[in-house]
Amino acid sequence: MRSSNFRRYPPSQSLLVGAAILLGSLMSLNQAAALDNGLAKTPPMGWNSWNAFAGTIDETKIKQIADIMVSSGMKDAGYVYLNLDDNWMANPARDSSGNLRGDPTRFPNGMKALGDYIHGKGLKFGIYGDRGTMTCMNVPQSGSYQHEQADAKTFASFGVDYFKNDNCNPVGNIQTDYQNMQKALASSGRDIVYSVCHPNGYSDWMQSTGNLWRISGDIVDKWDNGTNFYKGIINLIDANASLASHAKPGAWNDPDMLEIGNTGCTTEEYRTQMSMWSIMAAPLLAGNDIRSMSQTTKDILLNTEVIAVDQDAAGIQGTRIKATNGLEVWCKPLGSANGTTKAVALLNRNASASNITVNFTDIGLSGSASVRDLWAKADKGSFTDSFSMSVPSHGTGMLRITVGGGAGGSGSTGGTSGTATGVGGTSAQGGATSSGGSGTKSSGGTSASAGASSTGGSKSTGGANPSGGSSASAGGSSSAGGSKSTGGANPSGGGYGTGGTSGTGGASTGGTTNASGGASTGGVANNSNGGTTNSVATGGSQAGLQPGVGGGTASDVGTIARDAGSGESSGCGCRVASSNSRPGLSSTLVVLGLALWQLRRRRLGETRRR
Ligand code: GAL
Repeated sequence: MRSSNFRRYPPSQSLLVGAAILLGSLMSLNQAAALDNGLAKTPPMGWNSWNAFAGTIDETKIKQIADIMVSSGMKDAGYVYLNLDDNWMANPARDSSGNLRGDPTRFPNGMKALGDYIHGKGLKFGIYGDRGTMTCMNVPQSGSYQHEQADAKTFASFGVDYFKNDNCNPVGNIQTDYQNMQKALASSGRDIVYSVCHPNGYSDWMQSTGNLWRISGDIVDKWDNGTNFYKGIINLIDANASLASHAKPGAWNDPDMLEIGNTGCTTEEYRTQMSMWSIMAAPLLAGNDIRSMSQTTKDILLNTEVIAVDQDAAGIQGTRIKATNGLEVWCKPLGSANGTTKAVALLNRNASASNITVNFTDIGLSGSASVRDLWAKADKGSFTDSFSMSVPSHGTGMLRITVGGGAGGSGSTGGTSGTATGVGGTSAQGGATSSGGSGTKSSGGTSASAGASSTGGSKSTGGANPSGGSSASAGGSSSAGGSKSTGGANPSGGGYGTGGTSGTGGASTGGTTNASGGASTGGVANNSNGGTTNSVATGGSQAGLQPGVGGGTASDVGTIARDAGSGESSGCGCRVASSNSRPGLSSTLVVLGLALWQLRRRRLGETRRR
């Protein structure tokens, strides 16, 4: 296990961290443009040395880890980054030319040779550094402050593919330091994923700076560590819950690395970490000694169906949509924000097993849906309106729920993200991202079959509740699902009035005038999510719509329907559009004031603790 000697943050910082998280939440109203370096389009996956070994790393051990990453199936499952954490450097860390170098005793062949070995295994090489004067293990000269350009070049010369930049011993301005390194990496001549490791909560500049950014203090191998700076699994889930709107392909909230297999938690708790990290589209960096992992640990880390949720290309961070007496329902749209497939996590925080129910309308679906249990790796069958299952204490049920199924021939349910594999079956229905087949009734989810005039094919996306109310059918001449539908020139919810009385949030984005949001989910007033005219929908009585995507000029946070039981839910139909969520001047000033106050406190705190 790791040694606590290397820890650097006194517990007394928990108040500060709380304030930082509050600040992060406030600032989350103001999205920044994400870093666009073309990397980490899905959350990075790999292994990191810190949780298992702390500073005791050497070439032999790391090569063994590389071997096992391949032979255990981890690489094939997507765990490709092999990341060295603190203490790979020599002491002092720089050579006579001022360049960082590996410890010559523990890494006798040097870092380039190690990188070559890792690459030879088909893996990628990650390394660790610090934006201050020394890393957190206080290795002399190890910090990159004012060495950014040279260090980025050194990393590139080692063959580094991923760089984690920590926050110890700072002397400069935090944002400037992290951004200087970002620029240096960008001009290093190598594609290097950039991990901003500033563990005091989210700040707005992080999204435009790193491919991922830490959202809290370090993880410890515990379920619940209270309000301590070091976080247990459940604490990190809570810390990350309100940050979903910042995540997108290439830019991820990082609730820290996995502890799965490190023995401090139960199997169910580790299964919860895997489930919830995947629902939250978090980086999956294993942190156990994989040379000796049990079959149980392997089964958790290598569940490819759960991994697929994390790695879904749409890159949407799931949200908590219901929380009642310690029983929670979380939802992550798969394929697209408004599609017909959702990953659902049923999380039991309590001390005994309980039944947890997901209502399909709460996740933007309706009618009958097929349910797959991702831990049991079993189809549970078709269910109408809701699905319940018993979830053990601290465990998480992990489901994939699909309305429609992939396109297919008559009777076929098709795949989860079917793309018209079966063309033209008379009862074929569209899948999550299906564009439907060409048959007369193809495309669309169960509750909206294609109209008689449907031509199907590329014109008829449609989803769980393809935009359109009871009388609008996907593919119909004036309804969603046709060329005027979701994502088209007139996105559903547009002037054609999709989203009728039974229209659901998923389809009602971005309209121009009559925009959707039916009575059942979404705007109570049947108005305007993202519409140019009626910009302020108030949210539905059930979890429903978020501000319109791709639509008109103004909607505001009032459009986010919140589930009564939790603070951050916004339904599972679509994601917040950044352009629709700018705070007004006054709230910007408040946030700015808080930020300055926070920065000052933080810097004082940092100075004190160094
Ligand atoms: C912490 C960081 C850990 C680990 C450690 C190394 O600041 O959060 O993940 O990198 O430093 O000293």
